Amino acid sequence: MKKALILIASAAMILLSGNAFAQGRRSADIPKYPGLADTPQMGWNSWNRFMTEINEELIMATADAMVDLGLVDAGYVYLNLDDGWHGERDELGFITCDPVKFPHGMKALADYLHSKGMKLGIYSDAGNFTCAGYSGSRGHEYQDAITYASWGVDYLKYDWCATQNVNAKGAYTLMRNALGKAGRPILFSMCEWGTSKPWEWAADVAHSWRTTHDIGPAFLPVPITYNEQGRPNWRPQSIIDIINQNEPLRKYAGPGHWNDPDMLEVGNNITVNGIYYEMTDSEDRAHFTIWCMMAAPLLLGNDLTKITPESLAIITNKDMIAVDQDPLGIQGLRLINTETLQYWFKPLVNGDWAFCVMNIGEEPANIALDWSALEVDDELSGRKTDFANINYTVKSIWTPNDKPFNTLVKGKGKQRKQMVTNVVNVTVPVHDVVAYRLTPVK
Ligand code: GLA
Repeated sequence: MKKALILIASAAMILLSGNAFAQGRRSADIPKYPGLADTPQMGWNSWNRFMTEINEELIMATADAMVDLGLVDAGYVYLNLDDGWHGERDELGFITCDPVKFPHGMKALADYLHSKGMKLGIYSDAGNFTCAGYSGSRGHEYQDAITYASWGVDYLKYDWCATQNVNAKGAYTLMRNALGKAGRPILFSMCEWGTSKPWEWAADVAHSWRTTHDIGPAFLPVPITYNEQGRPNWRPQSIIDIINQNEPLRKYAGPGHWNDPDMLEVGNNITVNGIYYEMTDSEDRAHFTIWCMMAAPLLLGNDLTKITPESLAIITNKDMIAVDQDPLGIQGLRLINTETLQYWFKPLVNGDWAFCVMNIGEEPANIALDWSALEVDDELSGRKTDFANINYTVKSIWTPNDKPFNTLVKGKGKQRKQMVTNVVNVTVPVHDVVAYRLTPVK
């Protein structure tokens, strides 16, 4: 009897949802869930460090570490399972989780995370298979959305492998509608690597879209190598590659719809095709800073059970996170880009600006910060600096005790007394940054 009831309920669910498509009818469009990513999402994702080697024990230990290390308090609330959590589909086509990796099931995991003030993210794919070969959601969109909702899932990363002849806008809109029908607030994160220029059409479809192929812990571009058949080996996109691809897309980002330059590599290392990749703490700091300047989702990708104090200090810097999470949601701009130095500005609330200089050269850079030569006129946001007439206090984000900067940069009359100097000499170490928050003095 119970089984019969379940079968009837399942059949009704399919009729009400995905089957409308199978029969060629178009079910009504349902807008994406509002208010889920007014600032870029923050959390941790399993892929960069663990690939498909994930299980309940690891995920719960990671959740515990996120609380104990103060990461949840710092804003990293999503814990996202990437590829490899899947089991088989059951006889009705409903997806299950791997019973060996996750013996207590996804609902129990979601309950555990929710009890800690965290949220659960999950991963699927618009094609027949995920990138690691597990079952994709194609043809099961409504079933999968309703399953995730019943488990208490809060976030879906939706990938793009095995999608020959699939229209990207159609496939992602279909899943958006399915999530809408399932009725639970689920943040929808598109991962089609920028292939169909989602920034041009996905603001109403998803809360973020990947803009590049997969990142790795490499600061400078990685040379191409070839396999025995003469085909290019997979190689990670470097921090510099990704910045160059993501920076020109700034006009498309904003509250609720972000450019996603991929997950963070701070504190991570990998070996691919026999090559070991790891970044220095300086490179990690530069990477994290520019992701914050670009208003990127901040999804950690390292082993949090073994994090170093240096990595932890980078990812929990409150002033830097505030730049990323600024409520205006304006992606920063690269004002100057030479072979070795990049100068970035990001308009923030209340007339503030974030400013940083990144050194991608192989020597420390001694630079004179001459504010009068750094005026910004940002057409996109309508914001301008006015160093000639407005006094700003300058707070150094990575070295808050740096006194020379904790002062006005320009002043007239009485204020002139408070002025230290307009031109300040700073050294930017190799593959590192200096970063400041400028606040107008009222
Ligand atoms: C693609 C995505 C990655 C990761 C893997 C999982 O490569 O871009 O971020 O999700 O698939 O297989």
